[in-house]
Amino acid sequence: MLTSKQENAMNPIPAKSYTRMGWALTLFVTLAAMALPPQPSTHSTKSGEFFQEDSIKVADKTGKQLFLESCATCHGADGKGAQQSQLGFDTPPPDFTDCNFATREPDADWIAVAHEGGPVRGFSTDMPAFGEALTKDELQKLMSHIRSLCSDDWPRGDLNMPRPLVTEKAYPEDELVLASNINVEGSGGVMSEVVYEQRFGVRNQLEVVVPFEYREVRPGNWSGGYIGDVALGVKRAVWHDVNSGSILSLTGEVILPSGDENAGVGSGTTVLEPFFSFGQLLPAGGFLHLQGGAGVPVLRDKAADEVFGRGALGKTFTSGAWGRAWSPMVELLGAKEFEDNSSVQWELVPQMQVTLNTRQHIMLNVGANIPLDDPGRTTQFRVYILWDWFDGGFTEGW
Ligand code: HEC
Repeated sequence: MLTSKQENAMNPIPAKSYTRMGWALTLFVTLAAMALPPQPSTHSTKSGEFFQEDSIKVADKTGKQLFLESCATCHGADGKGAQQSQLGFDTPPPDFTDCNFATREPDADWIAVAHEGGPVRGFSTDMPAFGEALTKDELQKLMSHIRSLCSDDWPRGDLNMPRPLVTEKAYPEDELVLASNINVEGSGGVMSEVVYEQRFGVRNQLEVVVPFEYREVRPGNWSGGYIGDVALGVKRAVWHDVNSGSILSLTGEVILPSGDENAGVGSGTTVLEPFFSFGQLLPAGGFLHLQGGAGVPVLRDKAADEVFGRGALGKTFTSGAWGRAWSPMVELLGAKEFEDNSSVQWELVPQMQVTLNTRQHIMLNVGANIPLDDPGRTTQFRVYILWDWFDGGFTEGW
């Protein structure tokens, strides 16, 4: 994450805060309007408002019985996938006992696939649509059965809520994110970062963040490609509970002084950044992220200690029962440096995340970073494109 110092360095010119507030809110409202009218969300664990009330159906079958009857011919009685030789097609069925794959998929997506068939999430038509042949209740039972093939230690994909522009999520991910901060007032500047995240073990994640920057040195004259301070982090989900919809993680990050201090893209010291992240599912597709931590420079004369707190509140709407997911969010960011005369800096970040493809593993988020108090800082346009690479190639599932 770019420090407020780096961002300030890019923002030498004070601005009229009302215009900036105005355009940012307009952007947000316009984007919010695109997602309306609200539809029932399928993001929660209890999806399925789209089903007719279950008719009185024959005997209560267990999830396992239903699986053996309807799914096992292709998925295998043990859920590992039937032998290729027994299938009349080439698409290999997934292995539901591979917890690293299976636990990260939210129920809502799998229910969508079973009800509508593979193509609803960009999979093959070899995965048939069960439609009304299975009721909502039966699908829930089937999910419970498939879930029973993995232990509860694995954080469930249902807890993987939409990623805010700044606040770091608790859920361990396999992602590649390209994020940019673009000056909309004053001299031009584009501060970007490439974030690479990779899960390991049951609950952990590695993270590498490489910032780079382009700026307008004189009007119309750009220079850049400067690499900033590279960050390395390890995250661990220390507690999670899919029933209460909560997940808590601890992360330790080391920010290395790889950026050029004189060019204004580096702090000149290694900074240790421990923080917690907490995610909570809320009713009706809502969600909350909280993050809090500290930045502690190794060389005390280079940078000041900093504490920060961030929160993001949002809600996911889907187009129709199974379609594109729109997640408007608003973030509040607070940071305080322990330096003389330094007060808490507040920023508001209204934004909209949207899934771009059918598989929903490529996402775009756009928003504005609005400083709330300091007239010396200007609004920035923020954007990221996110690729959840575990779910498939960048060109797959459109
Ligand atoms: C005719 C064979 C067949 C039957 C029957 C079948 N499936 Fe599938 N299923 C597949 C294949 C093949 C795939 C892989 C599709 C792909 O990768 O493009 C798949 C994929 C899936 C996925 C997607 C997993 C992912 O990658 O996210 C889910 C969920 C699923 N099946 C659930 C079920 C359930 C539940 C049943 C029973 C109600 C069922 N399937 C019955 C063939 C079948």
